[in-house]
Amino acid sequence: MENSYTSSFARIYDDVMKEVPYHFWFEYLKDLLKYYNLEVESVLEIAAGTGNMTAELIQLPKVKEIKALDLSAAMLKRAQAKLANYELEDLNLEFFRADMTDFKLKADFDLVVSVFDSYNYLLRKEDLKASFSCAAEVLKENGLFIFDMNSIKRIKTIEEKKLMLEGEDYSCLWEDIVNIKESLWQVRLQISPDNPDLPAFEELHTEKGYKIETIKKLLHQSGFGGVDVYRAFNLFKANDKVDRIYFVAALNKESLARKRNIFTKISYSIKNEVKYFLIGLKSIFKQSI
Ligand SMILES: C[S@@+](CC[C@H](N)C(=O)[O-])C[C@H]1O[C@@H](n2cnc3c(N)ncnc32)[C@H](O)[C@@H]1O
Repeated sequence: MENSYTSSFARIYDDVMKEVPYHFWFEYLKDLLKYYNLEVESVLEIAAGTGNMTAELIQLPKVKEIKALDLSAAMLKRAQAKLANYELEDLNLEFFRADMTDFKLKADFDLVVSVFDSYNYLLRKEDLKASFSCAAEVLKENGLFIFDMNSIKRIKTIEEKKLMLEGEDYSCLWEDIVNIKESLWQVRLQISPDNPDLPAFEELHTEKGYKIETIKKLLHQSGFGGVDVYRAFNLFKANDKVDRIYFVAALNKESLARKRNIFTKISYSIKNEVKYFLIGLKSIFKQSI
């Protein structure tokens, strides 16, 4: 990820992402945890960015420890500043800089989690495998590893376009570039601060799409005994044609068998589909006023 998530982009990241429904993603994550009957006291968040999901994770009712890593020091600095505004009684929270493909920790965790396509930033299968192996090493025997990815179909079908985003003190030319053959989606960002004393800067972000079977195979090779895949944001099985996929992996297959019944699955799915639809409507409404 050279040339991305520099301090210049970290400064505007939250503004550019202001419509991202982190709270809804957290509600869905909580449903997954309830569905698998997992009570979480310790969490490792991978690629935590500016800490938007961390700010949700601290609300898990029994959580006592959260460690959150990211490769970008600039993103982590924002995360630290953001979380400093919360009262964190009885919670041990630590951000640290690390590469998700190569980290080691002494502790082990009930939940290892990563959201917002961060795993699509790994462009080689070897890197995915290395990262999954690191996650397996720090997961408790009965814990869960949950992460989302953009599907290969979504990556290949993103419409190539340019659009201008206007922030309060910057403008940003966003350009989507798609390489269908390589399943790559790139976003070139040209950001110009309004203040003429600040330099303009450019970043290039690259995500790669993988087939579900590839990811499952890599998870198995990395020590995960069981993997379930869901269509975001419900509890029905994903295929390669959906846009966003949630992977739920466990060291022991039996941990995935703790699932609740079909009625829970249906009710969580309907609830989240309706909420997601309403969030979409709200966002369309906001854009049109
Ligand atoms: C799309 S952002 C998502 C950030 C955060 N999870 C969120 O929901 O806002 C992707 C994040 O992945 C991080 N990242 C990319 N490659 C990484 C790597 N090899 N190791 C750790 N973090 C990485 C970036 O620094 C960035 O913060």
